[in-house]
Amino acid sequence: MVRFHSAQVDDRGVVELLSTAAGGQSGRPEAVMRRYRDDPTVALIAATVADRMVGVVGYEAHDDRIVPLHIATHTAHRRRGIARQLLTVVASRRPGRVSVAETDREIVGFYIALGYTATSLGQTDPGVERFSVCLRPDSAQ
Ligand SMILES: CC(C)(COP(=O)(O)OP(=O)(O)OC[C@H]1O[C@@H](n2cnc3c(N)ncnc32)[C@H](O)[C@@H]1OP(=O)(O)O)[C@@H](O)C(=O)NCCC(=O)NCCS
Repeated sequence: MVRFHSAQVDDRGVVELLSTAAGGQSGRPEAVMRRYRDDPTVALIAATVADRMVGVVGYEAHDDRIVPLHIATHTAHRRRGIARQLLTVVASRRPGRVSVAETDREIVGFYIALGYTATSLGQTDPGVERFSVCLRPDSAQ
């Protein structure tokens, strides 16, 4: 059974999962982890199976919107609805708020499968197309 609950960046398995979502540029994962430690406006929700970390989402909560920043599911547990449920838990903790995120071409289909609308931001770096994705609170699938 999968359990969903609040997490801290130093909980076992969280850094490994966040690293898969935080990009590989030198220094970037460290900066991401520091932010989850130090910034009170960001929070983490984890999915665990028998106390093993299998998924995590990190997000910013604003008065008017939620901003998912990083989301990752352990490779052995993908395509079973865990990331979908992580975002549902975030939305249930901040009801009535629009969810907006930025993502790339590999992941935009995931957000579209969840009912988000996607708008291309064009190539933010040469050869790298980014997308803005948005889910209104009354349109979750
Ligand atoms: C993207 C990711 C979080 C999805 O996790 P997951 O637990 O496998 O996703 P779910 O099983 O909840 O999928 C929900 C829906 O999205 C679809 N989906 C999942 N990954 C997808 C992808 N990469 N592209 C297109 N659709 C995808 C699923 O088919 C499912 O649709 P359905 O319900 O219509 O069948 C996971 O692949 C991952 O950890 N990737 C590496 C980290 C990463 O790049 N994160 C995003 C950057 S922050």
